[in-house]
Amino acid sequence: MFIEIKKLNKSYGEGDNKIKVINNVSLDIEKGTICMIIGASGSGKSTFLNLIGAMDVADSGSIVIDGKDITKLKAAKLTDYRREYLGYIFQFYNLIPDLTVLENIETTQYLGKDNMDIDELIRLLGLEEHKNKFPSQLSGGQQQRCAIGRALVKKPSILLCDEPTGALDSKTSQDILELLEEVNEKFGTTIIMVTHNNDITCMADHIVVFSDGKIVRSSKNKNKRSIKGMRNSAL
Ligand SMILES: Nc1ncnc2c1ncn2[C@@H]1O[C@H](COP(=O)(O)OP(=O)(O)O)[C@@H](O)[C@H]1O
Ligand SMILES: [Mg+2]
Repeated sequence: MFIEIKKLNKSYGEGDNKIKVINNVSLDIEKGTICMIIGASGSGKSTFLNLIGAMDVADSGSIVIDGKDITKLKAAKLTDYRREYLGYIFQFYNLIPDLTVLENIETTQYLGKDNMDIDELIRLLGLEEHKNKFPSQLSGGQQQRCAIGRALVKKPSILLCDEPTGALDSKTSQDILELLEEVNEKFGTTIIMVTHNNDITCMADHIVVFSDGKIVRSSKNKNKRSIKGMRNSAL
């Protein structure tokens, strides 16, 4: 199994204020699949994603990625893990405002050993005409495309997306999801996506439902459909 999470626990706060946010969670994710995580606000989805992304530290349990337990890695090795395996996409893009589209994408280029050709990437993103613009000159969808480019340039095997369409209208959301689907198909990137939109789980291979820090459902999607087929439907 590519990603094996076992008995993961995470609490915030101390004493009477202590809250258990991830409660004994175990999950396996297959390589090259799209795994969607849904559940109410506050159920622990982002915390779970941040633990996989080594942006937060678990209290106990293991997260084995490609045979390595990242909960046991020291800081320097953890940096190597992030660099080698991960791309991150957030709801509010997190672009650097003073850099152009091209420059934003180039910021992560030096991290990888084997990078994508930037011109080809910009074409895939549909940003040829916008590559010399600054984030403030772009629409939300274009900014998210740029953020996806920044995440992809070093060819990560895992793309972590926390509500990537949470700030976008339905048409633009559809465009972004089609792009992520294309990335999954073209590069075999494993995509783990937190979403509040249950309607888009049709494009997932694996659907995980969180409630109060626990996984209450984890199932393979037998009726997986391309998000492209959803065009013009009420997303
Ligand atoms: N850094 C933090 N410090 C304290 N509490 C936190 C922190 N991050 C998240 N929480 C709490 O953990 C719970 C789960 O949060 P989160 O993982 O963001 O849920 P979701 O993404 O499902 O909305 C919430 O009650 C939230 O307030
Ligand atoms: Mg969240």
